Amino acid sequence: MRILVLANQKGGVGKTTTAINLGTALAAIGERVLIVDLDPQGNASTGLGIDRASRKISTYDVLSGQQRLGAVLRETGVPRLFIAPSTLDLVGFELEIAARPDRAFCLKNALEVFTEEQSQVLGDERFTYVLLDCPPSLNLLTMNAMAAAHAVLVPLQCEFFALEGLSQLLTTVEQVKNSLNPGLTMHGIVLTMFDSRNTLAAQVVADVRGFMGDKVYETVIPRNVRVSEAPSHGKPVLLYDLKCSGSQAYLKLATEVIQRERADGGA
Ligand SMILES: Nc1ncnc2c1ncn2[C@@H]1O[C@H](COP(=O)(O)OP(=O)(O)OP(=O)(O)O)[C@@H](O)[C@H]1O
Ligand SMILES: [Mg+2]
Repeated sequence: MRILVLANQKGGVGKTTTAINLGTALAAIGERVLIVDLDPQGNASTGLGIDRASRKISTYDVLSGQQRLGAVLRETGVPRLFIAPSTLDLVGFELEIAARPDRAFCLKNALEVFTEEQSQVLGDERFTYVLLDCPPSLNLLTMNAMAAAHAVLVPLQCEFFALEGLSQLLTTVEQVKNSLNPGLTMHGIVLTMFDSRNTLAAQVVADVRGFMGDKVYETVIPRNVRVSEAPSHGKPVLLYDLKCSGSQAYLKLATEVIQRERADGGA
């Protein structure tokens, strides 16, 4: 079971969209995927059709140690794709947990229990990917995710300021490696919302590739209105409109992610 964290402290860059649609694409090609919604906004949960009223137990209960992760996960409309939903309770997590010495390891502890439980589960019922969807901040929730993950996947919007926040994020990943999670690796950077009519966008892609080399996935996610419409129907774009350019890009990204996993031997 591989645990990938989708992180970028910048808001609205496509973290949640990538969690939902990469998760769906991985599930479509046979993986069993759990998305863990770590954002109090709960966009991943809503985007997968889990309405707020039905979120009786959530990732807040998992982080605060009151529920097992296995107990809060829910089915989605996509076979083999599950989600652990979040609620606004998560806003309080930081304040409540800040004084605890193990504050950065709440999620890691929960995922260890989950991994242990998974070892009892039959082969094709076993989760192969966990995607952690983070809030737009390098706060304690994101730290918990980075402390628990094997690798970081960074969605980066193709816009002028893209590189600016990236250095800070990379520094944070290094710090986490040096302290909370020595095994953490950078899986890759996915460029999102690429608009071919915008002349600046191609320059941004070239700059990011120049700076980050082969850490940048070949697949670039285009700006596509179908991608932004899908969440309001509680569906991933792959279910909403499989043929659109956004869906096809996320399918391509999923194969690239899996290839990279194999090439790195899981590292
Ligand atoms: N490829 C795309 N084409 C068009 N719209 C997109 C695309 N990707 C994301 N969007 C839209 O951009 C907005 C921000 O995306 P998203 O919510 O995934 O970002 P985020 O990084 O999770 O945001 P936050 O930081 O608030 O959690 C959403 O309205 C989403 O529908
Ligand atoms: Mg989000």
